[in-house]
Amino acid sequence: MDRIVITDVSPRDGLQNQAVNVSTDDKLELVRRLATAGVPSVEVTSFVSPKAVPQMADAADLVQRVNAALPTLQTSALVPNLKGLERAHAAGAREIAVVLSATRTMNERNINMDLDEATAVSERTLLEARRLGLRTRAYVAVAFECPFEGKVPLEPVLRLSARMRDAGADRIVIADTIGAAAPGEVKTRMHELVALLGADLLAVHFHDTRGLGAANAWAALEAGVRHFDASVGGIGGCPFAPGAAGNLATEDLVLMAERSGFATGIDLAGLLDAVAFAESVLGRQLGGRSIAWLRRHYAKEAERKREAA
Ligand code: HMG
Ligand code: MG
Repeated sequence: MDRIVITDVSPRDGLQNQAVNVSTDDKLELVRRLATAGVPSVEVTSFVSPKAVPQMADAADLVQRVNAALPTLQTSALVPNLKGLERAHAAGAREIAVVLSATRTMNERNINMDLDEATAVSERTLLEARRLGLRTRAYVAVAFECPFEGKVPLEPVLRLSARMRDAGADRIVIADTIGAAAPGEVKTRMHELVALLGADLLAVHFHDTRGLGAANAWAALEAGVRHFDASVGGIGGCPFAPGAAGNLATEDLVLMAERSGFATGIDLAGLLDAVAFAESVLGRQLGGRSIAWLRRHYAKEAERKREAA
């Protein structure tokens, strides 16, 4: 069976923009439930300025506790610069992700750097991470549309992705930050990127603002991509990108993939448990497009098992 690999980014992308203050204990519990559901890889936090994103101020504590509690889980942490890398490394992070946007304005709003500086800082951070023996991901954000500059041409996406590859990124994550992409353009862009970089170097990260996240993931899958970001319950959104809704929900992606013959290694009933936990922490209803059906289906399954026992 063909296999896809999902990185759940809910503890980072999902929790970076919440009005509720989520405790480190609850973040650890969310990661634990994702691991129990069989999620192979989790982006647990970000080492960014606590003034910019107060929700991630406990990054070092969380990484240390996740490493102690779940030593075999593959985890990563977003770092915007060398200071973030230094903090992540000191805390014991084994994989980091840099974040470079394909437009000048998005870099300025997100990390207070122009495009050239953001590119150079991302390159230096990747090179240093490699020197330290860490695995690396490089986001190329606003790879389809920018909330400030509109439609983004393919050329900078290709150019910046190649720069990240040359700086040694182990994976380049093509991100639709505000969920504005549609399957047709995902297919053509991912074909070009696959031709340039090879499918194995690529991952995709879709936000689901317009309900096209799963369709976009399918288009990327057909272009050969096998690494996907998603967020349990569909929580997510960049605080510096107006109009960014939650990520493609992990449960929607798993349902689509498994029903189409792709193994994920993830148990959907376990994911529902993680969604329920996130709901209890955030105090509101969560879930992707399939959540109502999934809940009915797994409630019936549980009832059938009880009756059979
Ligand atoms: P700045 O103010 O330009 O930084 O912020 P600076 O270098 O001038 O330093 C200012 C202060 O911040 C100094 O402290 C530094 O030490 C400190 P002070 O002297 O004032 O006490 N500082 C740091 N502290 C902790 N960790 C660090 C760090 N770096 C500097 N790493 C900076 C620049 C990048 C730090 C800031 O703009 C920032 O932290 N931005 C965060 C951006 C962010 O988290 N965005 C959301 C994640 S990206 C996203 O969601 C998109 C994604 O999901 C993909 C997609 O969907 O497209 C990944
Ligand atoms: Mg995102």
